[in-house]
Amino acid sequence: MGEPSAIVGLDEASGLIRAGEPVAFPTETVYGLGAIASSESAVARVFEIKGRPSNNPLIVHVSGAEQARAVTSAWPELADRLARLFWPGPLTLVLPRAEGVPGVVTAGGETVAVRCPDHPLARALLERVGAPLVGPSANRSGEVSPTAAQHVVDSFGGSVRVIDGGSCERGIESTVLDLTADPPAILRPGALDRAELTQAIGYVAGGVLAGESTPGGVPRSPGQLDRHYAPRTAAELFEPGDWPDVIARTHERSGSPIALITHRGERFAPPPHHTFFLPPEPIGYARNLYAALRSADALSPRAILIERVPTAPGWAAIADRLSRAARPAS
Ligand code: TXA
Ligand code: MG
Repeated sequence: MGEPSAIVGLDEASGLIRAGEPVAFPTETVYGLGAIASSESAVARVFEIKGRPSNNPLIVHVSGAEQARAVTSAWPELADRLARLFWPGPLTLVLPRAEGVPGVVTAGGETVAVRCPDHPLARALLERVGAPLVGPSANRSGEVSPTAAQHVVDSFGGSVRVIDGGSCERGIESTVLDLTADPPAILRPGALDRAELTQAIGYVAGGVLAGESTPGGVPRSPGQLDRHYAPRTAAELFEPGDWPDVIARTHERSGSPIALITHRGERFAPPPHHTFFLPPEPIGYARNLYAALRSADALSPRAILIERVPTAPGWAAIADRLSRAARPAS
């Protein structure tokens, strides 16, 4: 286990956060790094700890629609409907920001992202602190997001305190929906499936391509820039039809061992390689993916090979994260 001193209870966590020191907390998606959203200096600390580029805005976590209203300057009927349907839960809404939200939170933009997390400890923390909290994933910028307290300790070596809420139930980040666009647009596919959104509100746009910018040059969804959610080891996706040749090819090119991540029980890379099996359905796969990526990376293999997932709708957010985790071997 990690350094015991890194794990804190709710009381200590809320005290630290009120004093301006960011603390990591569990949510149903991934662990977030919490700081009071109205405190420019505390939010600046979050950017510093993560090594996050200042042009990538943060999500403001709220206790419910009432707090969301306080950080937005417009709260349309549609926002209300979505909040009633999906909050607390893994849906982040982008809306015009209220004046009181510091520019450092929104990366200088005129919109703010808000979400009400569905985790008893996150909700208890929000209640104790009594104010909205920024909460980017509690990892260094570009790394795989943490889905366990130990992952936070692994990323920061114990220098960031964390509330231990066990393993995150969803395991993949929230869906970010831009309500300032007409029709609403998914900026980041996530734990709330697109089908659930369209069922609730009709058509939603597919979102922006990685790196697409507004006319002003501000990335519309900076989180969609490439090379997010990436392990240190070069990871590569392979097509089911490439099995088993892909192992021999990778071994020849990069050496051994190789870490294999698959959702098909019939695959197995014999020693010295390592095989990680993920569930063959998207809910279980998402819940375990980041832990598998981190475990694979920790073995310092020569390469990580990940089997492509189905193109069926429920897999879209996972496919998105896999494409960002994969980068060609150097
Ligand atoms: O599930 C989650 O959303 C987790 C948990 C901790 O709540 N948080 C999370 O935060 O994933 P972060 O900072 O790692 O990702 C926030 C995403 C980024 O893609 C960012 O660019 C986008 O939300 N975002 C934040 N504010 C935005 C805004 N005003 N307009 C467009 N995109 C925004
Ligand atoms: Mg993140």
